[in-house]
Amino acid sequence: MKIRTGIALVAMMAATMTTAFAQGSGADTYKGKCQMCHAADGTASGPAGKSLNVPSFKASKQTEAEMIAETKAGKGKMPAFASKLTDAQIKDVVAYVKTLQK
Ligand code: HEC
Repeated sequence: MKIRTGIALVAMMAATMTTAFAQGSGADTYKGKCQMCHAADGTASGPAGKSLNVPSFKASKQTEAEMIAETKAGKGKMPAFASKLTDAQIKDVVAYVKTLQK
């Protein structure tokens, strides 16, 4: 019985992970790839944000297209994500960043 429960759990976890990847929602990408520097609310208030001088999204004047370009190419201490995320993921995560500015 214990082994079966274990197998069921692993199967469930795998299914959940696959769903998360398939959906690749902007919020999930943000949590995994951006939040450590930009903070959950986009204000860069965490230790990494402060030490790297990350700007707050709330003060950003960039358009969505400019944000997509900078996320792809990187800038200064911000890594480039063109090889780490798909265009669709970058578009989704920037759309999520835009919701943090409000
Ligand atoms: C290692 C820390 C780090 C990570 C991870 C990171 N950033 Fe940044 N980000 C920065 C820094 C530092 C800047 C400021 C760059 C500069 O102007 O020199 C920045 C700037 C930006 C800007 C420009 C804001 C403006 O108005 O100037 C955008 C947009 C942005 N990041 C989006 C993202 C997204 C989306 C992710 C996740 C996919 C991400 N960043 C992950 C550190 C990071």
